[in-house]
Formats: sequence, structure tokens, C-alpha cells
Amino acid sequence: MKVGVLISGRGTNLKSLIDACASPDFPAEIVIVISNKADAGGLQFARDAGIATRVISHRDYDSREAFDRVMDEALRAAGADLVCSAGFMRILSDEFVEKWHNRQLNIHPSLLPSFKGLNVYARAIEAGCKVSGCTVHFVRAAMDEGPIVAQTAVPVLEGDTPDTLAARILKAEHKLYPHALRLVAEGRVKIVDERCVIEGDTSAA
Ligand code: GRF
Repeated sequence: MKVGVLISGRGTNLKSLIDACASPDFPAEIVIVISNKADAGGLQFARDAGIATRVISHRDYDSREAFDRVMDEALRAAGADLVCSAGFMRILSDEFVEKWHNRQLNIHPSLLPSFKGLNVYARAIEAGCKVSGCTVHFVRAAMDEGPIVAQTAVPVLEGDTPDTLAARILKAEHKLYPHALRLVAEGRVKIVDERCVIEGDTSAA
């Protein structure tokens, strides 16, 4: 499966996908990395791995739709079958989401459907949660909604700050995203009534 990755920042999840794809038995390959920011640290991970990169700045377009169309064209020109958002900080237009329906994944640092949106770590601590975690899901028009492919629970410890919790969750993200991408790329994920049904053993998460 050919994958396009969307980033906006440091790109550690992108790096985990690049590393996974480097294994000969991994069923996916990254064909392009697109960033809406020229200074996104993650672009260097892509360059180091010899992956094509594109910077498409949202500031150069006067509407969300116009920006998304250029991204869509770049993804299709690169031959992408699937889009993985990995810390991509722009809301996508309904048009883009529709074009990539059931072909776009996102990773979010909470156990969805809890704590959609921003400031997730502080909100989980504030709520007194004893576990939080991360989720990989298919993208739908509403932010951080869509069929859940895989999740990892992570403990919230006494004395955690948003930063310490974020670091613990990020470690789990780096295992979860490649795992979820593998499931999807192997064709083991079916969406039935807006829920993911996974074929076979999923215990290797
Ligand atoms: C991750 O926590 C991801 O879940 C969220 O944004 C962060 C991106 O981090 N969507 P990185 O750029 O992959 O290091």
C-alpha cells in the first residue's frame, strides 16, 4: 500500500512509520510526506530516508478547499492509496475528507471518544483519569471522530504533568501507528456500521 503522510511539526510519528516501512515484510511504503509548514522538523526524517517531500503552505491559498485540493493533487500524483495524518494541525475540508473516505487515518493522543481536540493531557489529568492513551482512527468530517482501528491505554500517574503524560503517551503512539497501518495495509480492517472489525489476531499491538 502506498501511503502519503501529512505533518505540521516535529514528526516523531512519521519517523515511527518510516522505520516500520523500512522492514522488508512491512506491507506499506511512504511515497510522499506533505507539510503545511516549511520548518516542520519531520521533513528532515523524510529527506534522510529518501522520501519525496512537499511543503504546501495553507497561507498561500485563500480557502481551506483550495489548499486541500492542492494536497489532494500532490497525494494522487505520488500514487498514494492511503493518507496518514501524523500531527497535521489543519482542519480538513469536507471535500477532502470525502475524497479520502475510508482511506485516511489519524492518530490522536487520547482514548477516543474521550478528549477530542486540544490540551488533551491537561484535561485528562484535570478529570482525574487513571488511564489515558492513544487512538488511530479513520478520518471523518467531525474532528477526532471516525471508526477506531486501534488503541493503547497508558496509565496516568500521581504527580503527572501534561508533559510527563504526553511523553508516556507518545512512546505508545510510536508503536500503535505502525501496528494500525499494518492492519489496514494487510486488508484486515473492515468498516461495518462505522465500526472497525479486525480480522485475525490483534494481540501484537
Ligand atoms: C502526537 O501526539 C499526535 O498524536 C498528535 O500530534 C502529535 C504529533 O507529534 N496528533 P509528532 O509530530 O508525530 O512528533
